[in-house]
Formats: sequence, C-alpha cells, structure tokens
Amino acid sequence: MSPATPNASSLLGHRQRILVTGGAGFIGGAVVRRLLSDSDAIVFNLDKMGYASDLTSIEAVLSELPNEGVGRHHLQRVDLSDAAAVEAAVREADPDLVMHLAAESHVDRSISGPGVFIESNVTGTYNLLQAVRAHYERLSGSRQEDFRLHHISTDEVFGSLGAEGRFSETTPYDPRSPYSASKAASDHLVQAWHHTYGLPVVLTNCSNNYGPWQFPEKLIPVVTLKAAAREPIPLYGDGLNVRDWLYVEDHVDALLLAACQGEPGRSYCVGGHGEATNKQVVNRICAELDQLNANNAPHADLITPVTDRPGHDRRYAIDPSRISSELGWQPRHSVEEGLAATVRWYIDHQDWCQQVRARASYSGERLGLTPQ
Ligand code: NAD
Ligand code: DAU
Repeated sequence: MSPATPNASSLLGHRQRILVTGGAGFIGGAVVRRLLSDSDAIVFNLDKMGYASDLTSIEAVLSELPNEGVGRHHLQRVDLSDAAAVEAAVREADPDLVMHLAAESHVDRSISGPGVFIESNVTGTYNLLQAVRAHYERLSGSRQEDFRLHHISTDEVFGSLGAEGRFSETTPYDPRSPYSASKAASDHLVQAWHHTYGLPVVLTNCSNNYGPWQFPEKLIPVVTLKAAAREPIPLYGDGLNVRDWLYVEDHVDALLLAACQGEPGRSYCVGGHGEATNKQVVNRICAELDQLNANNAPHADLITPVTDRPGHDRRYAIDPSRISSELGWQPRHSVEEGLAATVRWYIDHQDWCQQVRARASYSGERLGLTPQ
C-alpha cells in the first residue's frame, strides 16, 4: 500500500495566509495547486513571471473551486532583486508561513549567464529575508510562535559524489556550478538569519524533480519532446552521470511536512531512492514512447552523445532518513510509474510546451556551452 497523502489543511492548522515565492514555476506551481485544492488557505504567489513561469495549471484548479476560487490566489508580480517591492509584497501578504521557491533553476543557463543567478538567488533571498524579518518582528504572540520561513533548496549544494555514498544533512557544502553556488549562498544566508536574528527557518535540500508542467528545458521533457519529434536526443558526455529522481507531488508532500512540522533551524534532505544514470532514464523514456507509438519504434535509435556539460557533477544521491523518521515522509510514486505518467503528459500537452517555449524564445536548443 502506498503512503497516505499528508493533509494540507490539518498540517497548516491556524496558518491561513501563505506566501509562496516562485509559485508560477514548476515546483512552486505544484505547491500552490495543493494549497488551493487541499486547504482553505489564501495564497500569495510572488513571482517575477520569468521565462519558466506559467499560470495555466493554477487557473485550472481555481476554476474548479467554489466561486472559482475568488480571493484564494493573489499573484504578486515582483522581482526579488527589488528590495522595496519585496518589502511591500510581504506587508500586503501579511503571511503566517513563507515558502521560498523562487530561484533561477537551470544549471545550463547558469553556465551561460551566471549574473541573474546571483541577483535572484543570492540578493533575492537576502531581500526576502530582510522583509520577512521585519514582518516577523511585527507579528503578535501566537502568530509569531507559529510563523516559519521555509527555504527550498537543492542537493547540488553538496557537490558531486563518486560511486558510493549519499548526501545527508551533515554533508559539507561543496557547490560546483554557478547555480549550485548561488543556492548554497542562499542556504547560508537563511541559516545566518536564524542564528543571528532568531528568524524561525526550515530548510529542505531535494534531488531532481520531474512531473507535469515543468518548463521544457530539462532532461525529461527535452528528451520526450525531441524523441516524439524524431529529432536527435542529446545525451551529455558518456551518459553515466547519476541523478536521484523524485516525482514532484512527492516533493510537495515533503515540503508541507517540513514547513509545518519541521524544527526551526533544521534542514531536511529529500530524495526518493530514485537513482538512475541519464542513459537509463533516456532509455526508459524511449521504451515508453515505443509503447505509445510503435510505428516510430525504436526511439532509442535517436540517442546522440553530445559534448559534456562544463563541470558536470557526476552523481547525486540522497539519504532521506531524517525526514522519514522525524516527519514521517515517504515518496508515494515509484520512478517507473511517475516517469511513464510524465512522458504521457508531455505527449498530451505538446501544444502547451510549444506555447511556453515560444513565449520564452526557446526552441529546445542546447544551452550552457557558450558564455554570453
Ligand atoms: P522553475 O525555474 O520552474 O521556477 C522558478 C520560479 O521562480 C519561476 O516562476 C521564476 O519566474 C521565479 N523566479 C526566479 N527568479 C525570481 C526573482 N528574482 N523574483 C521572483 N521570482 C523569481 O524552478 P523549479 O524547478 O520549480 O524550482 C523551484 C525551487 O526548487 C528552486 O529554488 C530550485 O532551486 C529548487 N529545486 C529544484 C529542483 C528541481 O529538480 N527542479 C530540485 C531541488 C530544488
Ligand atoms: O539535483 C537537483 C537539481 O536538479 C535542481 O536543483 C535543478 O534546479 C534542476 O534543474 C536539476 O539539475 P540537473 O542539472 O541535474 O538537471 P537537468 O535536467 O538539467 O539535467 C539532468 C541530467 O541530464 C544532467 O546530468 C545533465 C543531463 N542532460 C540534461 C539535458 C537538458 C542531458 O544529458 N541532456 C540534456 O539535454
């Protein structure tokens, strides 16, 4: 039997006003949808509406709610690098809980253009921390006691593993790409605001997410769309780099548990025992497409080794013992079932993929080889 879905409403308790940063992105969008459909919370969605943002999935959930969800979702179109705008947005939201997901998130883009990663992930987090700290100090007794800032981070801050071992909360930081260095810096800032100013923070460091509504620039949507179009499937280097894949809804479960029940100042590593080489993942996607479209089988013939990513981390793997034993989190989806569902989703949503790519002036080309 698969583990039960954590109940958002009972986890949130009295916390009714939730500020989600990056709620128009892939994981933030899944958090916002869950908060809207599984609780009565009012969601303030702070997002700069960058190239990877889209509200289609949130609008669909809102349309199913009583009164079409009027008053439940407030988009705050704000860039975190604008301190005054962040201050005003936090005041307007007056949150009981902040879930901070906004970040530039694509490693390849951080290689070509690192500047915006520093502005969004480092300066942006600093601006948010300052605004939230002022807000926290304004809160009265019980609201202050319940308040949390949850910072959502990545396993990439720990660097690159060899064939053995897994990352845990005690692994030393060793980021190696502009993206992971900017995320590591933001983690340190968040911990510093806890230790120095007493801000009640919780951190999570998660492995690679996959699922529906991800902007199609990362491995799983890129491969699915290329294979479906009978285009060469780009496999970086020898294809033996390992990632630890987690279905995005399982990550949302972990985020809600950590945000609401995590211990202030504590961090939690999140990963679903989903290790696979890129070659294995790409072959599974091709096998799934062979079943969906036997006429074009075998799709694996399209796999094409390409120049490796500069500084490519070899292996990530997470030991999720702490979040499992302390907060009762377990993934609900196996990689096999999650991947099959995800491939089918991208095949059924090729119009959406085309639309968001066109809006972002991105057509699936290789990123991260040439500096801008
Ligand atoms: P995403 O790129 O899909 O979405 C990020 C969102 O943040 C976008 O809507 C973007 O507009 C917004 N944003 C970026 N910079 C901003 C700024 N300066 N001001 C306001 N909004 C801004 O990313 P994602 O995959 O949903 O990742 C969300 C978070 O989770 C990130 O912090 C990322 O580091 C972390 N994370 C991602 C993964 C993964 O596999 N995708 C795994 C672990 C952790
Ligand atoms: O580990 C968590 C991280 O996972 C998150 O913090 C990042 O936000 C997220 O983007 C992801 O980073 P990766 O770099 O691991 O994901 P990406 O999908 O870009 O690449 C996964 C692996 O696949 C990586 O080893 C590079 C390889 N790859 C990627 C692409 C886009 C290919 O071989 N071909 C491709 O076309």
